Amino acid sequence: MTDSQARLNDLHRRQALSEEGGGAARVAQQHRKGKLTARERLDLLLDQGTFVELDRFVTHRAIGFGIEDQQPPGDGVVTGWGRIDGRLVYVFAQDFTVFGGSLSETHAAKICKVMDLAVRNGAPMIGLNDSGGARIQEGVASLGGYADIFLRNTLASGVIPQISAILGPCAGGAVYSPAITDFVFMVRGVSYMFVTGPSVVKTVTHEDVSFDDLGGADVHAEVSGVAHFVHPSEPECIEAIRRLVGYLPSNNLDDAPLHPSDDPADRRDAALLDVIPELAAKPYDMHDVLRSVFDRDSLMEVMPAYAGNIITAFARLGGRPIGVVANQPAVLAGVLDIAASGKAARFIRFCDAFNIPLVTFVDVPGFLPGVAQEHGGIIRHGAKLLYAYCEATVPKLTVITRKAYGGAYDVMSSKHIRGDVNLAWPTAEIAVMGPKGAVEILHREAIASAPDPAAEAAARTAEYTATFATPWQAAARGYIDDVIDPRDTRPRLIDALQTLGSKRDQNPPRKHGCIPL
Ligand code: HXC
Repeated sequence: MTDSQARLNDLHRRQALSEEGGGAARVAQQHRKGKLTARERLDLLLDQGTFVELDRFVTHRAIGFGIEDQQPPGDGVVTGWGRIDGRLVYVFAQDFTVFGGSLSETHAAKICKVMDLAVRNGAPMIGLNDSGGARIQEGVASLGGYADIFLRNTLASGVIPQISAILGPCAGGAVYSPAITDFVFMVRGVSYMFVTGPSVVKTVTHEDVSFDDLGGADVHAEVSGVAHFVHPSEPECIEAIRRLVGYLPSNNLDDAPLHPSDDPADRRDAALLDVIPELAAKPYDMHDVLRSVFDRDSLMEVMPAYAGNIITAFARLGGRPIGVVANQPAVLAGVLDIAASGKAARFIRFCDAFNIPLVTFVDVPGFLPGVAQEHGGIIRHGAKLLYAYCEATVPKLTVITRKAYGGAYDVMSSKHIRGDVNLAWPTAEIAVMGPKGAVEILHREAIASAPDPAAEAAARTAEYTATFATPWQAAARGYIDDVIDPRDTRPRLIDALQTLGSKRDQNPPRKHGCIPL
């Protein structure tokens, strides 16, 4: 055998070894837990044959606890680049079969290297997390590695989309890298995230709680708002990541990809005439409106299980990706509360950072009253939503379907805060407050002293409703640009969006604003 042949064989042997991870037994154990390996996950995530691996021969440099005798190539994380629907993305996938996917100095350096490439080359960064946290044998070197990643997450924020999937444990300070990224995916029964686990919780607060109840996927999707998407299996989760990438530009200077649709731009929908119930207090499902207006099957809801009183979603209009924010009358009458304000504010800021136009559907009775909301800081949290809308310079389209009352009218992408095209249906009610509350305040004495108070109240309410619970006062002032036939909503929005293709608007120069966090 020639020397060069021997060297080639050595390369192939080393390559094969690097793909073994922690060995067959640990891979089998991973599968027994219902989990895929890092490489199996990347196979599902990336277009076939597009993965290019980096740093497969990197080994850790730690000494002590016998770890120096184990030098698995790659050091527990698979990194590199590949393509999703032909578009470049950078990836890392932690390999739980190698030291429990724990993060060492070199493991962190591999992740930092691909993050730097992603930012430099303007492509999304996708991290598949499955790790026991800081590599215990490495001590502070591991903590330093985490901090190196946190810094990069922060500097990349708003420059490239960052997506995290939690596909196993994610505990301690390790949670903060995914938390800084734009979207967190979890898998039911497989993922968990917490700052301190059940045993520490038991010691400190004497609470008994399971892994799942403390930091499982559903808890983070429904209660904490940490997770944006939950799926029942890893393949479904990874497929959803691929779908999400299809709505996003590669970076903050690029446009989001167009997906030409066979759904006609001039499609009118008569069903929209029947959406709003005769009774103003009756709920309806805003999803029906959204599904009708946007390109067929294009709606991808973000945080669907959290703060259902507001809907945030990606969708397409005439093939162009947009961000949707919509009050949902079917949940808490679509009221704005702390959770809804935070959810929508974050989504709006993401869309604005990445030049994704915003389409807002309004049916909102106001902010939620109550001691819990006031003491919880609805003023501060509501201000986030207002701030996010005010600050956004992307094209902003607004449709008021029914109620737009009080401060919530101003907040929900009104003309006054740089709404570009603001439309209303004839069923819109744009006023300081609803008829009942207004009449009680304005005519309390007249009603009390009337011979028939009930009849007096009804008459005053009818008068108020006819005058104020309409779109006409707002239309008369140009606060809405037009009152439209609901059937025309899709064609009108598509046309408006086209006119805004060359929109130019910017905020005053500054280091950064001070959003009330
Ligand atoms: C080194 C680790 C490790 C770690 C797991 N392993 N976690 N090695 N450092 N942090 C190794 C195990 O020794 C084992 O090696 C293999 O990975 C698989 O672990 P198991 O315990 O057998 O797996 P499982 O039963 O599924 O339990 C998973 C686990 C558990 C719940 C994650 O391993 C665990 O509790 N690990 C420690 C978690 C932890 O406390 N990490 C530090 C958190 S603080 P062998 O050779 O037997 O296969 C932190 C701070 C971050 O991370 C700060 C950032 C600022």
